[in-house]
Amino acid sequence: MMSHIQVFDTTLRDGEQTPGVSFSFDERLTIAKQLEKWGVDVIEASFPASSQGSFDSVKAISETLTKTAVVGLARCKKSDIDAVYEATKDAKYPQLHVFIASSPIHLEHKLKMTQEELLENITENVSYGKSLFDVVQFSPEDATRTDLDFLVKCVQTAVDAGASIINIPDTVGFSYPSEFGNIFKVLIENVKSDHEVTYSAHCHDDLGLAVANSMAAIENGATRIEGAVNGIGERAGNTALEEVALGLYVRRDHYGIETNLKLDETKATSDLVASFAGIRVPRNKAIVGQNAFSHESGIHQDGFLKHPETYEIMTPQLVGIKSSELPLGKLSGKHAFAEKLKQLGYDITAEKQVELFKQFKSIADKKKNVSDHDVHALVQGHSHETNAAYQVETLQLQFVSEGVQSAVVVLKDHEGKEYPSAAIGTGSIVAVYNAVDQIFKAPSELLNYQITSVTEGSDAQAQVNVEIRIDGKTYYGIGVDHDVLLASCKAYVEANSNHLADTARKDGVVS
Ligand code: KIV
Ligand code: ZN
Repeated sequence: MMSHIQVFDTTLRDGEQTPGVSFSFDERLTIAKQLEKWGVDVIEASFPASSQGSFDSVKAISETLTKTAVVGLARCKKSDIDAVYEATKDAKYPQLHVFIASSPIHLEHKLKMTQEELLENITENVSYGKSLFDVVQFSPEDATRTDLDFLVKCVQTAVDAGASIINIPDTVGFSYPSEFGNIFKVLIENVKSDHEVTYSAHCHDDLGLAVANSMAAIENGATRIEGAVNGIGERAGNTALEEVALGLYVRRDHYGIETNLKLDETKATSDLVASFAGIRVPRNKAIVGQNAFSHESGIHQDGFLKHPETYEIMTPQLVGIKSSELPLGKLSGKHAFAEKLKQLGYDITAEKQVELFKQFKSIADKKKNVSDHDVHALVQGHSHETNAAYQVETLQLQFVSEGVQSAVVVLKDHEGKEYPSAAIGTGSIVAVYNAVDQIFKAPSELLNYQITSVTEGSDAQAQVNVEIRIDGKTYYGIGVDHDVLLASCKAYVEANSNHLADTARKDGVVS
């Protein structure tokens, strides 16, 4: 007899706290729909009080999903709880997630509260939440650095005030499996309640133990697991949900637990999130990495050919990796392209599809086969370009071996106004970036420049990620193009546009 656990996805909230990741409204909605298709039970759609954009997307996700519960995050503050209520009131299954830190270091330095004041705060805010929501989840932030007796008191207080879900966050990724598992055991044995209480685990991966800690929580009674697709999230990230899901499935003999996840949607979900986040999963990443199902050594290949189970504990098909994907090509028409977008989880307006199809045709002219990764990169690149306030209209370069390089860049804003600039540099990219700097007139420092190819082969598209610092703040940009210099230029322009959007300082641009 299998028991059941709930999967709580926080890709759109904690996942978006990954440095450099910022999903647009459309991207959030697309990810939420794919998460529902994957079969997660609960989506933490965002932190509605943090910005209008977060509020709007939680509202839209609430209005759209039909099967999945939608949670909004709130600090222990009435205005935050009200914002979650307003944003989720049209959800079919709304839930509140309210949190406050309980560890001595947070109480003393961050909250400047005594333990007694904290307990009063929990009572007040959980009860208030309960007056608006049927389902209230409470999290004692930094639970794993909280004295266990006091943690029991915090949880008892939240349960008495009406919380029916207790989430234990290993906020700083400090715990280890037996310790983390024991917290659940102690809470379940000691907290008394007149209503049913679900225990949930929320782990961070600072010591690389997030998945192991989540599994230990399950072994000790947790029936809800929080995490993010591909393990993205604050610092080293969150529990990678796909790893928990497959761990439970492949070792169901041990865990005896099932989830509602449709495992064959795992790869599609991972690819979509990787694409929108602009963070490709490492090749050796468990479950969804490129090498996860490839066998390199002769001995392994020989064994695998004789019997796949010699070296394969799960099949690629189980997680939705198709043995042969049908690539698009030069002759593929609008319908085939639209069908591919749908298959990959994109729900794109007809107007946007027209623009994307033009770009697809231009890639198909340069590449024989346009793979799923190319299509993801295309949508991702388009999304970054259109979200940025400035786009690259043209780029012209002159390369001289062992000489000074020169670049002419023309940018365009959303009103169609053009901003030309020319500059020289010791290398082509330096010349391009100098030209862009003259337009934005912001003293930017390039902290990181990374180039990856979207697929194999010399005709692959390039993805460039840049990180710049302006006035002490970091901004990120992503550019995708068949040409590496154009991809580099797009990424830099997006990072500078993000700075402008942040400061709303349009006067720095040459008009
Ligand atoms: O890591 C953490 O403590 C959190 C809480 C908001 C649950 O993300
Ligand atoms: Zn977290």
